[in-house]
Amino acid sequence: MSRIHDALERARRERAKSPNRAETETESSPAPKPVEGGASLATLADCFTQECETLRSAIEAALPGRAQRVIMFTSAVRGEGCTTLVASLAYTLATRGGMRVALVDANIKAPGLAALMGLGPHAGLTDVIGRDLDLNLALRATPTPNLHVLLCGNTPLISSEVFGSSRTASVLQSLKEHHPYVLLDTSAVMSVPEVAMQATSADGVVLVARANKTDRAVLQKTRDILQGSGANLLGVVLNRRRFVIPEFIYRRL
Ligand SMILES: Nc1ncnc2c1ncn2[C@@H]1O[C@H](COP(=O)(O)OP(=O)(O)O)[C@@H](O)[C@H]1O
Ligand SMILES: [Mg+2]
Repeated sequence: MSRIHDALERARRERAKSPNRAETETESSPAPKPVEGGASLATLADCFTQECETLRSAIEAALPGRAQRVIMFTSAVRGEGCTTLVASLAYTLATRGGMRVALVDANIKAPGLAALMGLGPHAGLTDVIGRDLDLNLALRATPTPNLHVLLCGNTPLISSEVFGSSRTASVLQSLKEHHPYVLLDTSAVMSVPEVAMQATSADGVVLVARANKTDRAVLQKTRDILQGSGANLLGVVLNRRRFVIPEFIYRRL
């Protein structure tokens, strides 16, 4: 079994064991407080440390001289590993890079960060956009120092109210003021084409594709949609590559 598969299994077991606090956020809640869910994210991200460091270097090389960056992560279709990658990158930047990171779940069709991080339901992006909840009440500290998370939220909104809206752009702008990295996990472009409208309020877009699975034509179409909407497409991350020789030997070559 692969190292990553083992880590994913370990992370799932840790999430199952940890008490999953159900939290309901209200306007009168106190300032951000830590939430559960640190251990399983650490277990998962430890597996991707090297890849995340490489990705961080690539992002910084593509966007030189910036003190703050909003980076949007998306994919052509679901299940490519977008959420797994963006959460691991956020953890690596916060722990190894010591940078303040805001991790935002903007996948209104299939939000995945709460489950991945073992977090109970609470307010988030759609509540800030849809019912004017104070961003500071929705943004949560996590047990990982420097890592803040804005979950998807509980207010039902349609895609066009979230993606490309001036409210979302202003939320991202506010997060950017206090976080050198704002990482946005979004829906897949083929499921929610409006995602592309969000790309212009990000400094860069990373497309996640699954090796040997994502259809090339679908990936090209996704790239065209993103670029057509004015996205600064930084590159494609090829997830779940298979190694014909053992991975530890490959890494030494
Ligand atoms: N590099 C990887 N190796 C093995 N499994 C992975 C990897 N990346 C993601 N997965 C698994 O693939 C599934 C989909 O991942 P997820 O991050 O939710 O995708 P998406 O956000 O693109 O829908 C999850 O079960 C996740 O654990
Ligand atoms: Mg996802």
